[in-house]
Amino acid sequence: MAVVGMALKSAMDRVSADIDAAFDLLLAIPDDPRRRLYEAMRHAAIGGGKRLRPLLVRAASDLFHVDRVPALRAGIAIECIHVYSLVHDDMPCMDDDDLRRGKPTVHKAFDEATAVLAGDSLHALAFEVLADPETHPDPFIRVELLGELAKAAGPAGMAGGQMMDLEAEASEFDLAAVTRLQQLKTGALIGFCLEAGAILGRVAPEGRKPLRAYARDLGLAFQIADDLLDVEGAEENTGKAVGKDAAAGKETFVSLLGVERARQQARILVDQAIGHLASFGAEADLLRAIARYVVERDR
Ligand code: IPE
Ligand code: IPE
Ligand code: MG
Ligand code: MG
Ligand code: MG
Repeated sequence: MAVVGMALKSAMDRVSADIDAAFDLLLAIPDDPRRRLYEAMRHAAIGGGKRLRPLLVRAASDLFHVDRVPALRAGIAIECIHVYSLVHDDMPCMDDDDLRRGKPTVHKAFDEATAVLAGDSLHALAFEVLADPETHPDPFIRVELLGELAKAAGPAGMAGGQMMDLEAEASEFDLAAVTRLQQLKTGALIGFCLEAGAILGRVAPEGRKPLRAYARDLGLAFQIADDLLDVEGAEENTGKAVGKDAAAGKETFVSLLGVERARQQARILVDQAIGHLASFGAEADLLRAIARYVVERDR
């Protein structure tokens, strides 16, 4: 168990260092009036964050012996979409937060217009990275990655879930509605990570079923843990304000089930997620460790 913990920690550290280095190169500051935009993108994208999504891409890619660079570049793309979603999520028109990853949010450190443009630009950068032949020499693979990421980010995925999340402040959402909301808001981007590993590994859609099932349960468990941290977590660990969901009157698993049953549900989902990996051997240990971490985390 401790050995698995060490393996997870070192994999996380490696992925975090790779992602920081990649953003540093991609976001070199130009010597012209766009400087402020690049600075805002760097503020959002470099330093901090668990880098869980790129780690999931790496772990899924490991199952199929995918090379390091394609997995890293798919990881950069999904992290770009994730970071953009956080920049916009924190804006006054959405959650109105001042702190993210232990730093002032982008609209606080810069201004609202710059935050909109930094989010837009990170969104575009995700697709630019995937479309580049450096990501994969096979254009069919690149197009499949592009299509899947577009679906996961748009109205049938994260953005659609964010819309439902805003609606959840004003209307009564039951458990089924909150589950659907979370599957879109958080689950879709997590789903892409596993899908990307399978696409890069040239796994036919039929063979992706266990990974999709793992992603579905993991995504829900991950968001329940996020909602629990909002109730029980500490700002020094999470690097973001806590107690926001209840203050906004937002329906979450925690508001509907209470803390204890929500935690229980998250653990059940993690066990289920790991159960879906039964056809894999030790090569799936990192995915198993990530699933356990997702509900035990304090940040
Ligand atoms: C926070 O995501 C937003 C949700 C989808 C719940 P993370 O908890 O992965 O945030 P970072 O990347 O570690 O900052
Ligand atoms: C945001 O969910 C999820 C996305 C940005 C898509 P939350 O609003 O719960 O995330 P935090 O708690 O601010 O990180
Ligand atoms: Mg939100
Ligand atoms: Mg938020
Ligand atoms: Mg939250």
